[in-house]
Amino acid sequence: MDEPLVLGIETSCDETGIALVRGRRLLADVTASSMEDHARFGGIIPEIASRAHLEVFAPTLDAALTQAEVDLGDIDAIAVTAGPGLVGALTVGLSAAKALAVGLEVPLYGVNHIIGHLAVDELANGAFPDHFIGLVVSGGHTNLFEVRDIARDVTELGHTLDDAAGEAFDKVGRLLGLPYPGGPHIDRLSKQGDPAAINFPRGLSRGRELARHPYNFSFSGVKTAVARYIEELTDSGKPLPTADIAASFSEAVVEVLVTKSMAACTATGATTLVVGGGFSANSRLRELITAHGEAHGVQVRIPAPRYCTDNGAMIAALGSALTRAGVAPSALDIPAASAMDLSQIRA
Ligand code: KG4
Ligand code: ZN
Repeated sequence: MDEPLVLGIETSCDETGIALVRGRRLLADVTASSMEDHARFGGIIPEIASRAHLEVFAPTLDAALTQAEVDLGDIDAIAVTAGPGLVGALTVGLSAAKALAVGLEVPLYGVNHIIGHLAVDELANGAFPDHFIGLVVSGGHTNLFEVRDIARDVTELGHTLDDAAGEAFDKVGRLLGLPYPGGPHIDRLSKQGDPAAINFPRGLSRGRELARHPYNFSFSGVKTAVARYIEELTDSGKPLPTADIAASFSEAVVEVLVTKSMAACTATGATTLVVGGGFSANSRLRELITAHGEAHGVQVRIPAPRYCTDNGAMIAALGSALTRAGVAPSALDIPAASAMDLSQIRA
């Protein structure tokens, strides 16, 4: 018999993502983004995001069904992002998912977006091993996890104490006068610069701070250091070496992510590292973490960049893992959990 057909719905931020997964096979993945409507404000405007989800939901669902060549009636289970994210945006996806689950008489899984960023890797790189370290780096989160079962046993090892990696990139992007979100622009600019030009601080990476926070991160210090550097040059009327700033800043952030991830692998004996989240589209992170993995005997798994940023496939993938593991579905009255706890794989 065929494995269950799982519909995945993601509406936690600016992307309306709808996907269909059977087992670990991605059958359709359609994303509509409202980023263009937010860019001129220099940040996501929650009300605009909610309205956009509402407007594009039905056509996006239709497009996904067409792409997979299936009908609504073929769906066996529905997975939807329950949190974390913007409460209004989450509510649109949750309401639609609940209505579909009732109408189609299929189970509903309200899932954790952050864990979804890891789960999507199974669609790209096959079944997970029994034990691995997961690094999730996005616009709102930077987390290290120890995973024994993506559906049942995920333990948080560390998180950022202030800014997320993507958030720090977006803020430095603004300082450099780049369009929002700055992450991809800094990535591009970095390739023309010297990563060793400026020695920006590596947060929680030395001495007592490292000992106290082996798996926690802090990126507000490096962001402030970049701001001060730009201010001093501007005040003295000197031109800004933007490519060198971008490259040196990227290096400082990426180096900490890589070092701490490898340390977590060594300490736990994990020989696989799975990387996910919007920031894992970053080319320097992909390059450095793969190289360090080879040096440490750790297999590094990162999905293609389009599966790193928010999409429906990640939610369908986690829903599929939950159904495969026989985890009980969520209640139909689950709320949008804007600050969903990372110990909760599903609501
Ligand atoms: O996971 P995601 O799509 O949304 C959240 O859940 O936050 O991540 C978006 C973040 C943004 O901060 C964006 O600037 C960053 O990922 N990002 C990048 C790159 N592509 C996206 N940061 C650095 N380099 C990139 N290539
Ligand atoms: Zn995300």
